[in-house]
Amino acid sequence: MKRALYPGTFDPITLGHLDVLARALHLFDRVEVTVAVNAAKTTLFTLEERVRLIEASAAGLDGAERVTVTAFEGLLVDHARAQGAVALIRGLRQVSDFDYEFRMALANRRLAPEIQTVYLMPSEDHTFVAASLVREIHRWGGDTSSFVPEAVERAFQGLQAQR
Ligand code: PNS
Repeated sequence: MKRALYPGTFDPITLGHLDVLARALHLFDRVEVTVAVNAAKTTLFTLEERVRLIEASAAGLDGAERVTVTAFEGLLVDHARAQGAVALIRGLRQVSDFDYEFRMALANRRLAPEIQTVYLMPSEDHTFVAASLVREIHRWGGDTSSFVPEAVERAFQGLQAQR
């Protein structure tokens, strides 16, 4: 049984992330979406909210029963080893992602040579979609519904109502 980890900040999960997750489910028996706990990074959604939004969003995918959602703190490769994962999934949207991803993949490979990083390209509809962009659209009251899963859109509307 081949298990992959799909790590990220997911603040919040976007349709691009969901697209990558769906592709990963074609390649691996189990995919664990794992949310990084990073006290140094301020996020719009709490860790618990991000986990819940991923669970709600992934529930509609083919193969949803093979998805788990967790949080991790510390080195990603330590979590991957502890979970028995053979691969790390990352989305690659455009050339500007490459520099950061290349450094991260090589560092992770140095630390854990037995774990492969697998890059998946989302559909071209989502190549420009980033969580930071979506948060900015939301901040200024724009329509985020074509960028995020329904559960996230509802959460955004909830935040709007609180203002
Ligand atoms: O969605 P993001 O913010 O691009 O995800 C980055 C993430 C969380 C995958 C990365 O920062 C990470 O793996 N952090 C855990 C600490 C770690 O292992 N760092 C070494 C990577 S070289």
